[in-house]
Amino acid sequence: MNADEMKKQAAWAALEYIKGDGIVGVGTGSTVNHFIDALATIKDRIEGAVSSSEASTAKLEANGIKVFDLNDCNEIEVYVDGADESNSLLELIKGGGGALTREKIIAAASKQFVCIADASKLVDILGKFPLPVEVIPMARSYVAREIVKLGGQPVYREGVITDNGNVILDVHGLEIMEPIKLEKTLNDSVGVVTNGLFAMRPADVLLLGSPEGTKTVLAK
Ligand code: 5RP
Repeated sequence: MNADEMKKQAAWAALEYIKGDGIVGVGTGSTVNHFIDALATIKDRIEGAVSSSEASTAKLEANGIKVFDLNDCNEIEVYVDGADESNSLLELIKGGGGALTREKIIAAASKQFVCIADASKLVDILGKFPLPVEVIPMARSYVAREIVKLGGQPVYREGVITDNGNVILDVHGLEIMEPIKLEKTLNDSVGVVTNGLFAMRPADVLLLGSPEGTKTVLAK
């Protein structure tokens, strides 16, 4: 079973968490693309979706799923999204696809966060995957210097502009022993929009696709 098959398995398993007939929060990435295909099979039962990126919005609409502005919604029942890494507390690194800020906003506005991923994403310590940080363009060099002071090696993701018009620094060389502390510290830097640590608001459930079937992991 390859990684994409594991992602697809986890994505379809997430349908079980769509219990009501309301608006579903939808993340971004290749795993979420499988989830959108799955969601399309129950589109007549739900009101629609809120989307974390222009890419997901386009795929949702192409599948006939209405996309709402988050400002027009009350609390979202369920948010489904992928991750680049998760630890056993379901603290995540996200933002490989550059959609971290909108993802974090929808995660915060949702009652339940269901994370879908292939089995390789579960790690003991976060940080092998470079941590994405979304930055206001004029602050890029300043923020990069601040990140170096924290012990990270920031790399400018060249040619990428986020849906919010910002740039991304991918921070290498981190072994993240205190994810909540680092999430807060990075966000304190002027010019940082947000960073890809989802520790203050971790996932509630992690569905991991694997050759042995989908594993459900709850935060320890
Ligand atoms: C996008 C993300 C994605 O959820 C993350 O990069 C995982 O992507 P994929 O499902 O393609 O492995 O955070 O910003």
